[in-house]
Amino acid sequence: MLVIKAGGSVITRKGPGPVFDRAGAARLAGVLSRLKEPFILVHGTGSFGKPPAARYRYLSGRIAPGAAPVAAIKASLLDLHSSLVSELVAGGVKAVSCPGCAFFSLVSGRPRLKAGQVLLEWLRGGFVPVINSDIFTCSSGGFRVVSSDALLQELSAELEPALAVFFTDTPGLLSRGGVLLPRLEHPALLRLKRQLPRSPADVSGGMRGKIAEIIRISSAGVDAVILDGRRPAELLELRAGRRAKGTYIHASKK
Ligand SMILES: Nc1ncnc2c1ncn2[C@@H]1O[C@H](COP(=O)(O)OP(=O)(O)OP(=O)(O)O)[C@@H](O)[C@H]1O
Ligand SMILES: [Mg+2]
Repeated sequence: MLVIKAGGSVITRKGPGPVFDRAGAARLAGVLSRLKEPFILVHGTGSFGKPPAARYRYLSGRIAPGAAPVAAIKASLLDLHSSLVSELVAGGVKAVSCPGCAFFSLVSGRPRLKAGQVLLEWLRGGFVPVINSDIFTCSSGGFRVVSSDALLQELSAELEPALAVFFTDTPGLLSRGGVLLPRLEHPALLRLKRQLPRSPADVSGGMRGKIAEIIRISSAGVDAVILDGRRPAELLELRAGRRAKGTYIHASKK
């Protein structure tokens, strides 16, 4: 079983307003429909999630009560989720919506899987659970944005997939000189994270936030790979045992 994240960078168009990238989603669906093993798909929010975070100033992820039109933003995030599920089904993937807020709860700011059995039942039936990142309520009051990178981390730790796949809009992890890093071990990943600047304009922390989640995934004994979501067929190459373009991160313990 695999867990796969489709970055908001792959399924939306960057810009001030929310635009679903139907062509990008269709390309992804075409590849995922050919995958020969079960998988769970998580997706990010891209231009549906990032502009409101900047506009209403919750780039830290915490939203105080009344600080943002939470219901309207959640309705827009649901539009994206619904568009993606429909495009996956049209592309031959037996996708079923499994909303992030219904399947995870928030414990000390981190998502905790609470309905894993239901995900496994869908998988056993030959379906593909599709989970969205979203705005969650906090027990201490207010709300919190939960990133899809963090959801993939929790799924990896709880379900121990064969591989965690991150589709994003770069060929993989690039060195400071812009060269693709094909393989990384845990210590090199820690070094790279320290070198990367923070992404204060990105509520989910951009590539630095993603690397922080991959470090956790790797520590849980699960391999991860960052692939170019604009060329998703690389995943089929990888799973067929052939060379694939991207960055492969070997787990630090097995
Ligand atoms: N060392 C690096 N290697 C590759 N990409 C990098 C690096 N440092 C920063 N980036 C940036 O990280 C971006 C990908 O992360 P980003 O969070 O924007 O996308 P995503 O996680 O796929 O989408 P979303 O956050 O909407 O789900 C790339 O567009 C790239 O510009
Ligand atoms: Mg991101």
